[in-house]
Amino acid sequence: MAPLNQDAKRFYVTTPIYYVNDAPHIGHAYTTVSADCLARFKRLKGMDVLFLTGTDEHGEKVQKAALSAGLSPIEFADKVNLRFVELWKKLDISNDSFIRTTEERHKRAVKAFWKVISEKGLIYKGEYEDWYCTPCENFLTETQLAAGKCPDCGRPVQKLKEESYFFKLSDYGGVLLDAINSGELVIQPDSKRNEVTSFLKDGLRDLSISRTTFSWGIPVPGDDKHVMYVWFDALTNYLSATGYPDVALRWPVDVHIIGKDILRFHAVYWTAFLMAAGLALPKKIFAHGWWTIDNEKMSKSKGNVVDPQAVVDRYGVDQFRYFLMREVPFGLDGDFSIKALEGRINADLANDLGNLLSRTVSMIEKYRKGEVPSECASHALDTGRYLKDALPDMAKTYAGNMDALEFHKALDVIWVFVRKLNAFVDEAAPWKLAKEEGAAQARLSNVLYTLAEGLRIIAVCAYPFMPSSAEKMWLSLGMDARIANVDFDKATAWGGLKDGLRVQKGASLFPRIE
Ligand code: ME8
Repeated sequence: MAPLNQDAKRFYVTTPIYYVNDAPHIGHAYTTVSADCLARFKRLKGMDVLFLTGTDEHGEKVQKAALSAGLSPIEFADKVNLRFVELWKKLDISNDSFIRTTEERHKRAVKAFWKVISEKGLIYKGEYEDWYCTPCENFLTETQLAAGKCPDCGRPVQKLKEESYFFKLSDYGGVLLDAINSGELVIQPDSKRNEVTSFLKDGLRDLSISRTTFSWGIPVPGDDKHVMYVWFDALTNYLSATGYPDVALRWPVDVHIIGKDILRFHAVYWTAFLMAAGLALPKKIFAHGWWTIDNEKMSKSKGNVVDPQAVVDRYGVDQFRYFLMREVPFGLDGDFSIKALEGRINADLANDLGNLLSRTVSMIEKYRKGEVPSECASHALDTGRYLKDALPDMAKTYAGNMDALEFHKALDVIWVFVRKLNAFVDEAAPWKLAKEEGAAQARLSNVLYTLAEGLRIIAVCAYPFMPSSAEKMWLSLGMDARIANVDFDKATAWGGLKDGLRVQKGASLFPRIE
């Protein structure tokens, strides 16, 4: 983990830790890419970021998957864990820490967390007799079942009757409602907050938090016959990665980004555990929507599971990241299709942005021997003035959207500006100015400067979404410092491009898909 910078404002963002029962898919990539965009933006804002992701390796589901693969649970977990690690590398994920629930630091933290709650008298022994959905690792009552199946995933459930430790969840409905209503705990989007509050209003039952019928888990302190319920184990990862129980300087977390399927575990169980342990609540829980594939639910049995690795190999990392964040308002459900992906790549990336960069660089090469011209001070010559004037507003709106996790809006703001610059090229017609002498030459310099400077700022805003393409844009405009290290506020102020920098024509930024 990066050392804590005492002076900088801290920001802690997490993804869920993913089950290692199966290979990573587009849904996992979505959450992780969104958290990466946020983390990268906050770093540009000068914050000391802890961006955590990881893998959830215990529980009955993983044990069963290992068994059918003919491996021991840890051998199996090691193997699948690697696939996540490799995918995140491939997707340019800049996580500062990666936690596995099989790590010693995690087991130690979970045991300590259990003990704190237990010592407060909030855990008791009893018997659990009801239903369990192993794919969801979720306890269900008879009335919650839908036609005898799991109401969430639709798969068969099993009847359990076993000794179990219970957590006094029933104590927490009222206090959690208060925390949500007072704004201490923010749940977004609003529709998801409403789901949680109505669940809380129905009243909470105590929660079974241990199992005895399998062994792949963390033993309950003082009672080895039990392993902890996998969600008690998994949720605590957010604390163990901060150094809990020794130091928890990063706590509370600023935002847990999760999918809507696991909202209840986070907004009800996790928050109640934290209250029980006397720890602060997460500041925000953001539940995003789900992807369907060609308008169908993604499932192994349908054979339509999207492998992010394959998409990236065919279309490129930044193209995939851009599509995920642009196509669907964050918080709503969306549909993935190759047609939509190719459409976005050709229209937004190749036509709008890629062309603008290549035209600008070519014109600077052709008309100014590759040197970024200086901006002419005379207002009369300043044909692109309105673009320059629009910038502070655009950067502010963009930053506000990023802070609010409205990624699609942030991208929209950038693209409105990209389109304005494209319109400006046609309006200013630099190829005509190039044929004239005198004032036209000063005007041409201004036009070229405006385009290059506009693109430089676009690169900064695009960076959280498309880190390597933004870096390429940055380099082709002649900038040398690494874009990852810039300060957002300074870097989005007009005038960062100094005259005399040499542009560099690189390979096409976003090749068209034919
Ligand atoms: O639930 N669309 O792990 P998991 C969008 N280990 N996102 C999707 C998706 C889809 N179709 N399918 C999955 C677990 N996701 C637990 C979490 S956290 C302490 C423990 C994403 O491997 C989404 O973020 O089943 C969802 O919450 C996550 O994958 C579930 O991953």
